[in-house]
Amino acid sequence: MKRLEEVNFSGKKVFLRADFNVPIDKEGNVTDDTRIRATLPTIQKILKDGGCLVVASHLGRPKGKASPEFSLLPVAKALSNLLSRAVPLAPDCIGDETYGMVEALKEGELLMLENLRFHPEEEKNDPSFAKALARGIDIYVNDAFAVSHRAHASVHAIVRFVPVCVAGYQLQQELDYYHRTMEDPQRPMGFVIGGAKVSTKIGVLENLLPRCDLMIIGGAMANTFLKALGKPVGRSMIEEEYIDTAKSFLEKAKARGVEILLPEDVVVAPSEEAEPEACRKVAVDNVPNDVMIFDVGEATIAKWREALSRCKTIVWNGPVGMFEKPQFSKGTMDLARFISSLKTLTVAGGGDTVSALHQAGTYDKMSYVSTGGGAFLEMLEGRELPGVAALKDCGKGFSQ
Ligand code: 3PG
Repeated sequence: MKRLEEVNFSGKKVFLRADFNVPIDKEGNVTDDTRIRATLPTIQKILKDGGCLVVASHLGRPKGKASPEFSLLPVAKALSNLLSRAVPLAPDCIGDETYGMVEALKEGELLMLENLRFHPEEEKNDPSFAKALARGIDIYVNDAFAVSHRAHASVHAIVRFVPVCVAGYQLQQELDYYHRTMEDPQRPMGFVIGGAKVSTKIGVLENLLPRCDLMIIGGAMANTFLKALGKPVGRSMIEEEYIDTAKSFLEKAKARGVEILLPEDVVVAPSEEAEPEACRKVAVDNVPNDVMIFDVGEATIAKWREALSRCKTIVWNGPVGMFEKPQFSKGTMDLARFISSLKTLTVAGGGDTVSALHQAGTYDKMSYVSTGGGAFLEMLEGRELPGVAALKDCGKGFSQ
């Protein structure tokens, strides 16, 4: 895979696939520009070299139709503020008017294309659409890790129609951290996983088991594991059909010598709407029949802290309680503060985990926070992302 630093972009027409799928408020302001900032080093390198830069992204899920609420105009404005220069927005990502604007770009100038997903062909990985995107382009750069798990035209099919394809700095950084944490970690390696369902995380659990020394399981998915161990879980959310899976997973972990830590005490309440006075802390052996588990307790966090402080590498995905509700946020907040206070290599990813780190005010203290949601999970499952595979295949079967 060609790296950005190996290429001189001077005088070249460059198509940069970014992931600027960012939250935008009703007034049309970008409320979290983390993903835009993450791509700035790549943009600056291309412009500094004298490249003619075309920036493309999707925003939301407009279902293949142009619609003003999914316009990239707020993003172009946010990028313009960050770069302190104008960022014109083309009316579309293909078509004569857009081609004219691309053609007119001078060295060191940039242009943003309108939302790629205004065309249904983008999500269909349509080769003709990919070819239309690539028209007049000399170099393709993927700096969109967060969408590289999608085999979409601007991420995948496009590499067949551009002679040179390159991984941007942000994509490289994501892959480098993956390597440092998952493929060649300093041991002991601890993995913290939470979230609602075993069914959506079982691929991650299976892939991580041979790679880690310690696995901490929290969130509603831990209820299914507790049930598998014969513990009472009251009316808590569990996945009956995954109880056997959980049992056999615990057996496999034991056979491999991987330490698995589950909650030992929990915060329970009659419902998620319960007032703080109606919430109680109980040991996992004493969960009453008429309540649900919504968070882990202090004894659990103390035990997890002790175990994590022995680790040299920590990867975290998924909250360990319903942290969106203040009465159930303590476990996840304490964990966020603790993991980010460690001097060891700490990497987190996933939409809820990133929100939890922001809520705890410790986002900046992690060694690295992935820009990917679904893409990060697919990496944790050990799958090769189509966007990354495409960069490796670049040049094979090239046609214009
Ligand atoms: C994301 O936000 O995870 C990426 O931009 C991918 O978006 P998608 O799930 O709509 O494909």
